[in-house]
Amino acid sequence: MQRHAGKVAVVTGAASGIGRATAARLAREGATVIGCNVHERSRAEAAAFFAEQGLDVQLARADISQQQEVDNLMARTGPRVDLLVNAAGVMDGYLPLGDLDDETWSRVVDVNLTGVMRVCRAVLRLMLADGGGAIVTVGSRASLGAGPAGFSYATTKHGVLGLVKSIAWYYGPHGIRSNAVLPGGVHSEMHKSSDRSGWAFDRAGLAKATMPPKGQADEIATVISWLGSDEASYVNGAIVTADGGWSSACASCRCSG
Ligand SMILES: NC(=O)c1ccc[n+]([C@@H]2O[C@H](COP(=O)([O-])OP(=O)(O)OC[C@H]3O[C@@H](n4cnc5c(N)ncnc54)[C@H](O)[C@@H]3O)[C@@H](O)[C@H]2O)c1
Repeated sequence: MQRHAGKVAVVTGAASGIGRATAARLAREGATVIGCNVHERSRAEAAAFFAEQGLDVQLARADISQQQEVDNLMARTGPRVDLLVNAAGVMDGYLPLGDLDDETWSRVVDVNLTGVMRVCRAVLRLMLADGGGAIVTVGSRASLGAGPAGFSYATTKHGVLGLVKSIAWYYGPHGIRSNAVLPGGVHSEMHKSSDRSGWAFDRAGLAKATMPPKGQADEIATVISWLGSDEASYVNGAIVTADGGWSSACASCRCSG
């Protein structure tokens, strides 16, 4: 299906996990994709993967928490971006507030919230000039409750819902749609690199006990692709869970309470 034929898409965090699966899917569906991430090694591996598959994905280095690097990324896109996917994100070591150090807080806020804002702001200006576009932001099961992560991650992932809705409300009349996808547990690089604090990680386990088997990154990418496409033309400001039913179970059984 060529639902993104002729479109230009920007995907952050495109070198691994959900971002990589999304970049690949959008390219297969006809988009020219400009991806970014921050780690050299995964970027090289992903570039080889995209080339092997014959996919039109360019990968740039950009730390989305740095305005200058976002500006550099935007310089590569040209004047038009039809679709932005905010997939870059970092975990927080399951640190609860009482154990939280400033460095962890700043890193998680800088990437998961400020970074998303910086890329949205830059792309929004292009979309406004061009008459419209679509933004899909990856939140988390932790956008809806505290259980599956630490303080900083849950706080920032709740925060992005405000960002998503604010863009939807103010810019919907300008032809710009903004929606969120909230994955549950997904196979990716994220949890491999996340260190875990003792008692809080054990308590997070109470919420994780109800988690359905982990999903694949492409099962999230397909939702992102649809939300970002013209098929979802009347969907704006939506919060779409893709978690195998995890959030519906936890909301009712209060397993983490
Ligand atoms: N894997 C899960 O279980 C899960 C669950 C819910 C939500 N999510 C969310 O999905 C998104 C994608 O995560 P993933 O699971 O694919 O993990 P991942 O670690 O494989 O991918 C995250 C990517 O973001 C990039 N990144 C990190 N900091 C960056 C920065 N400052 N600038 C640019 N890129 C940066 C990383 O290099 C990496 O490529 C994240 O927003 C994450 O919070 C993941």
